[in-house]
Amino acid sequence: MRILFVCLGNICRSPTAEGVFRRRLEEAGLAEVVTVDSCGTGGWHIGKAPDARAQAAARGRGVDLSSLRARQLDAEDFVRFDYLLAMDDDNLASLEALRPADCDAQVGLLLDFAGEAGRAVPDPYYGGEQGFDEVLDLVERAADGLIDHLRQRLECER
Ligand code: 4NP
Repeated sequence: MRILFVCLGNICRSPTAEGVFRRRLEEAGLAEVVTVDSCGTGGWHIGKAPDARAQAAARGRGVDLSSLRARQLDAEDFVRFDYLLAMDDDNLASLEALRPADCDAQVGLLLDFAGEAGRAVPDPYYGGEQGFDEVLDLVERAADGLIDHLRQRLECER
């Protein structure tokens, strides 16, 4: 199972989701069967490490984002991934616009898995540091729901 987290720049929200979720998968013993990645719908920050504020906030919760590098969404991602999970409605609209007609992947909002259908992970880029902690709170909630969902799906496929 392959999961792609998608935001605008791939330097704040989606790398945070990638780092948090990768650690949750390891804790759940699912790291061998579920792979994760992240990307941005925009290309301004290609090749850059996550924003220093995102790295510091994640480090505060024991998650190291330093090795991640930004990349832009690619048409192949609709084939390579089973889930493409957007942080907000703009990111979701960008995904829907590029989604091929025969795409089997599930495309939606990350927080649908937090039991908060339709809610966005707010963009923290132009705000203060507390925005990065809010991103972590939301992403951690969604990670729990996504792990439960994947466990059920893997159980059904067994
Ligand atoms: P992200 O945050 O989409 O969570 O990575 C942003 C990063 C950069 C910009 C906007 C949002 N930007 O406009 O450069």
